[in-house]
Amino acid sequence: MKMDVLALFPEIIAPALQTGILRRIQEAGGLTINVFNLRDWATDKHKSVDDYPYGGGAGMILKPEPLFAANEALNAESDAHIVFLTPQGTPLTQPLVEKLSLEDHIILICGRYKGVDERVRQKIVTTEISIGDYVLSGGEIAALVLIDAIGRVLPGALGDFESAHEDSFSQDLLDHPHYTRPAEYEGMKVPDVLLSGHHENIKKWRHVEALKRTAQRRPDLLQHLDLSDEELAIIKKTK
Ligand code: 6GU
Repeated sequence: MKMDVLALFPEIIAPALQTGILRRIQEAGGLTINVFNLRDWATDKHKSVDDYPYGGGAGMILKPEPLFAANEALNAESDAHIVFLTPQGTPLTQPLVEKLSLEDHIILICGRYKGVDERVRQKIVTTEISIGDYVLSGGEIAALVLIDAIGRVLPGALGDFESAHEDSFSQDLLDHPHYTRPAEYEGMKVPDVLLSGHHENIKKWRHVEALKRTAQRRPDLLQHLDLSDEELAIIKKTK
């Protein structure tokens, strides 16, 4: 997969791409990421990328020319998926991450200031994405969130392929509790079942704990699930 990122502050994004799983997947050739400064496509002598809103009001608007020019340059084949990061976008979820991870080429446009000229949205943007119901000062950090979430589900990103499909949200439940050594720490013991070596019981315990945790913290997630009577009983007891 190739990702091109258009940002006014590329320096927020570039260093975070050099560590951990994102670094590994790029080195393995599974992902190429280029981060560009939108100002490089500014058309006037002051290299301006924003301007005052028609109709008045506070805040500046990203001008259309640099974005159309950048799109022309980066999307020569014109089949890239163009994502605009904005609090007005579709909320980012794991299913959306997995859908986007199947694309060959994604161009991420990071907003700043009051927003972007509406004609950019009409002509260039494929999908608008928000990472949650709060306001960031710009789309750069949101782009990083999206890049990280996509990068870790690409083939070859995780040493152990299974772990991406077992964690919170990939099976629609929050993750069960985890323990490592020692078996007892300052009087706090690891549940016996995890030390038993009985794989069937361990699997069952983990599923029950995941259900209980989801019922306590995110009951909204249970609404989409087709739960057995046994599972419903566990949830009822948790409440
Ligand atoms: Cl994608 N951008 C900005 N500026 N704020 C946000 C966001 C995006 N998602 C949530 N808040």
